[in-house]
Amino acid sequence: MIGNRSNIQTFHASTEHPIPIILDGDPGHDDAIAWVLARSRPELRILCATSVCGNQTIEKTTYNAGRIMALLGMDVPLAMGLPKPLFRDPIIADTVHGKTGLDGPDLPEPVRTPVPYSAAELMARCLKESDEPVVIVPTGPLTNVASLLLLYPELKSKIRHISLMGGGIARGNWTPAAEFNILVDPDAAKIVFDSDIPITMAGLDVTEQALVYPEDFERIRHVGNDVALVVAGWLEFFYHFHQALGYPGAPVHDAVAVTALVRPDILSGKDLYVQVETTGEFCRGATVGDINRVSGKPANAYCLKDIDRVAFVDLLVEAVNYFG
Ligand code: RIB
Ligand code: CA
Repeated sequence: MIGNRSNIQTFHASTEHPIPIILDGDPGHDDAIAWVLARSRPELRILCATSVCGNQTIEKTTYNAGRIMALLGMDVPLAMGLPKPLFRDPIIADTVHGKTGLDGPDLPEPVRTPVPYSAAELMARCLKESDEPVVIVPTGPLTNVASLLLLYPELKSKIRHISLMGGGIARGNWTPAAEFNILVDPDAAKIVFDSDIPITMAGLDVTEQALVYPEDFERIRHVGNDVALVVAGWLEFFYHFHQALGYPGAPVHDAVAVTALVRPDILSGKDLYVQVETTGEFCRGATVGDINRVSGKPANAYCLKDIDRVAFVDLLVEAVNYFG
């Protein structure tokens, strides 16, 4: 049933009291669309953005973050994340997002230069300065979030929730067992999933249903403002890779992590105990969900499973209209 209840995701953003959030991503076409959605919502108050090494090198994802923020008028601090995962070599997804990491439409140059300190430090400063706990929205590998938890354990209580895109209970997409974000930095993911911070996990189980069809690209393009035209262009580029794999549309994975905060009614899922596999020849990076509750461990994540696709597309159309 869409819109079911969770004991883990126990709040929903409202316009009366906007929720402070931190965006952490590896833009990346779907990260970019997630940031468009977040920027368009009055229920969310973006405190800062941080780039992470994932879809492309940290230099490219940081540059892309700056360009997206300039396009969206997102006037908040930006920090560059670590140059590589905690203990492993980077894996990039240039086959999906192109050599820039955000191939396709022309974008403005960044307005803000990244702050002269780390992503973990910027996150920590935002948590310290916030007068209420903050929701972190990671849409790439969890390197920065894990670094924050390792370097500033005293700030864990200022993290209200983590609504992340990553993992997949039923399957992977970069290996048969592992989804890209978790595979790139499984050690960081383990730190986050073992942190006792409430997590909403937008894994492949739900995000591969968050499909935007070519006819939807035209709906978005028809809105006609600069952001709408760019989002339509991002969708077209992002769809190329997926069309070749037989997808009927572009799976806008990362936007589901934001959707979970503002429209939980179009989603459903299950509270599960999730462990991250950090070793193994075949299963490194797998998010292993205790569906039959055999571990005896309490659930640590609200794992999303279904989405109302039409309502999701309507949400994206509404989002680009904001920039009219
Ligand atoms: O597996 C999908 C995830 O990997 C998305 O976050 C996409 O941007 C890539 O980072
Ligand atoms: Ca991403």
